[in-house]
Amino acid sequence: MLKHPKSNKEMNNAIVLLIIIGTCLTSGCSNAQSMSSDKILIVYLSRTNNTKAIAEIIQRNVGGTLVALELEKPYPENYQQTVQQVVKENETGYLPPLKTKIDSIEKYDVVFLGFPTWDMKMPPPVKSFLHQYNLSGKTVIPFNTNAGYGVGSGFESVRNYVQRAKYWKALKLGVG
Ligand SMILES: Cc1cc2nc3c(=O)[nH]c(=O)nc-3n(C[C@H](O)[C@H](O)[C@H](O)COP(=O)(O)O)c2cc1C
Repeated sequence: MLKHPKSNKEMNNAIVLLIIIGTCLTSGCSNAQSMSSDKILIVYLSRTNNTKAIAEIIQRNVGGTLVALELEKPYPENYQQTVQQVVKENETGYLPPLKTKIDSIEKYDVVFLGFPTWDMKMPPPVKSFLHQYNLSGKTVIPFNTNAGYGVGSGFESVRNYVQRAKYWKALKLGVG
């Protein structure tokens, strides 16, 4: 089921996200904090910069390489057209090709993976990333922003894709 963003909640969400990320970075993600920052990769998808803002906070706290997922063929500017395209891609299992290339993913031990909820799911470009790059043996830490309806099946999908990852800890973000 697609739930549309509650635009008046977006700012509140961002604040909640910041608090939770802050908590994570001082406790549950301490393995990332104590690790050499050249072993940390922060990958994110962001259309309107909410997830980007969280990714940048994580980088400020733990260091690491920040990578935005970009598509060979970007989604339309128009929100409704993007929603329709995403619904179709989810129905058909289409994996949009990524313009972003990550050099030597094997050199990273910790991968933060951030994405917004789209159609109550993981966005198709994030599926493309997880199909393309092998994260087995790494610590994978997903984080999410949404418009108040929650992460949906996004974290569950991360778990399914990275079953062979060493460890994963989902950051439960957003309100709803
Ligand atoms: C195509 C699309 C579908 C979305 N579907 C949902 C949804 O199902 N539930 C929800 O809470 N928010 C949904 N949103 C809102 C985004 O998850 C939310 O605004 C998020 O914080 C945007 O992150 P960004 O600024 O990093 O792109 C959707 C946004 C888009 C563009």
